[in-house]
Amino acid sequence: MNRRIHYGGDYNPEQWPRAIWREDVRLMKEAGVDLVTVGVFSWAELEPTEGTYDFGWLHEVLDLLGEAGIGVDLATPTTAPPPWLTTRYPDVLPVDSKGTRYSHGSRQQFCVCNPTYRMFAKQVVARLVSEVGGHPAVEMWHINNEYACHVPYCYCDHHAAAFRAWLASRYGSIEEVNEAWGTVFWSQRYSELAEVLPPRLTPSFSNPGQELDYCQFSNDAFLDELLEEREILKASRPDIPVTTNFVGFYKPLDYFAWSRELDVVSTDNYVDPADPEWAMQNAIHYDLVRSVNKAVPWVVMEQTSSRVYWREHNVPKRPGQMRAMSYQAVARGASGVLFFQWRASRVGAERFHSAMLSHSGEASPVWAEIRDLGRELALLEPLGQARVAARVAVAFSWQNWWALEAPAKPANDLVLSEQLAWLYRPLFRSGTTVDFCRPDEPLGGYEVVLVPSLYRVTREEGANLVSFVHQGGDAVISFWSGIVDEHETVYVGPYGGPLRPIMGCDVLEVAPLLAGAVVEVEWEDGTKTTAGFWADVVAETDGHVLARIASGPWAGRPAVIENRVGSGRTYYLATRLDPAGLARVYSRLPALAGEPSLERAGDGVERVVRTGPEHTYEFLINHAPEDRELEIAPGGIELLARVELGDRVKLPPTGVAIVRRPTSELAR
Ligand code: GLA
Repeated sequence: MNRRIHYGGDYNPEQWPRAIWREDVRLMKEAGVDLVTVGVFSWAELEPTEGTYDFGWLHEVLDLLGEAGIGVDLATPTTAPPPWLTTRYPDVLPVDSKGTRYSHGSRQQFCVCNPTYRMFAKQVVARLVSEVGGHPAVEMWHINNEYACHVPYCYCDHHAAAFRAWLASRYGSIEEVNEAWGTVFWSQRYSELAEVLPPRLTPSFSNPGQELDYCQFSNDAFLDELLEEREILKASRPDIPVTTNFVGFYKPLDYFAWSRELDVVSTDNYVDPADPEWAMQNAIHYDLVRSVNKAVPWVVMEQTSSRVYWREHNVPKRPGQMRAMSYQAVARGASGVLFFQWRASRVGAERFHSAMLSHSGEASPVWAEIRDLGRELALLEPLGQARVAARVAVAFSWQNWWALEAPAKPANDLVLSEQLAWLYRPLFRSGTTVDFCRPDEPLGGYEVVLVPSLYRVTREEGANLVSFVHQGGDAVISFWSGIVDEHETVYVGPYGGPLRPIMGCDVLEVAPLLAGAVVEVEWEDGTKTTAGFWADVVAETDGHVLARIASGPWAGRPAVIENRVGSGRTYYLATRLDPAGLARVYSRLPALAGEPSLERAGDGVERVVRTGPEHTYEFLINHAPEDRELEIAPGGIELLARVELGDRVKLPPTGVAIVRRPTSELAR
């Protein structure tokens, strides 16, 4: 991928007569489009009946785009098998946990473990490559589409067989499976592997270890299919980068593992523009996507120009919001901003989804915004080598997410997204950029690691976090961390498992608070803040108690414990502190304390810095409903308006400034 910001969207020419295609290309040029995703849902057009192919139309489309200098992100069509396939081979259709088989008539109606599906998928991909893989317009491969999005789990017999094979290779014997899952409980002991099933509908809660393994297995099964397709693509065109579109915080798939297999990470972002925290939701989404593979470029593969159709009430983006959102992505490192889709469909379930080109065409105000943004991005100087650098990391794993939100817990309404938002929100508001890291990833480059409810933590992950603190890092660990191992088996003794050496306290019991209940938290200096949702019943050990719960049944128990370990420190948060309480903790962290950013937090302006070898780019995006006049370091050049700035910049609502300065020695 070259270094400018790519711009474009999903292009589905098969839905339109040929006469429209030329018009499409003309308008794409007008809007600065340089990359379109073609063919995502085209299997039935490419292979209309079993073994018969029609690539003529695709050749024509690629020729047209190529002649216009528009690159193609060519999709394999394997996300939507044609009706002939599932009519002839009905067991390709997936099955839900109650044993109900899905039907065709929509999309993603395939069981990824089904050998027939896999055979047909490989066949159509191989054919795609041999027919058009050499076309000069093809710049990227787009494998499948939003894997696992509609049917993340299938429970059919093919899955049962594949699950058993997966267990055999992971554990070696049924005794090991019994041990790992604790099948001594409720008389679940298996005498042979053949008795093991996917976690289908059961009378009561199923085995937690089995559930957790099924999440991992299902993830692996989808990834295996991607690898099979990738192999075919790479065998013929190793030079073309490969991607598949992620869905940000999408629970069923471990994107850390997936992104290792891709040349470009891409994500689809359908934040609700009416969500009061849409700007933060975008930021956290993009910070995650940038982080899952820190060594490869990433793009927004899909966003809306305006509105979706699949929420109950679909509020459009207000004027300027799409542009501001797009720059949020660029600020956080994106090398491309693309949309679903180029031209709004006339037919099918998605005909009321907004597009770059609406039903009303060039007359629509949406088109004006799309065209203007495309032209503006085309003129923006390349930022490709300017990286987003973070000193703060969030320890995050999909395995923890699966386990944390599995049923049968003290608080089944404890959701990871709320824990993340709680710790992330003040940093977003103050312009402190955050990376996400696997808990076992090298953390030496960070000064602070936030650990939101790392309920499931392996000994290796725990040791990594412990050594981070020993070597001088600061960790903020929230309640409900260090509770179970990789099999969902509880670490007994006071809670904390492998994190106990740095926690500075003993968590003896856990106590979810009454819904809506607020408790007082009193700090050493007598200041009072509040907290809610949860209280650990903590006994102090070697840590220093900074604040105690001061009302309710757990009054007197520690709420915040500071523990010096080696040259680092841990802050253990035994309850969900309110923003004022959390700010008190954050202000004790050298990486954050003294930052002017903490004081200016709350002005509604998002600030992100990208640092390159020569230039530093400070992005300022005004999400506030009023104008904002900001003090800035003098000597910058604003790249969008192309003006030299003094020490102030004024931004209207949704306004964006990109301030370029020479990179200082320190930042290099
Ligand atoms: C997903 C899909 C697209 C489209 C959009 C609609 O992102 O990948 O094909 O269905 O949702 O919002």
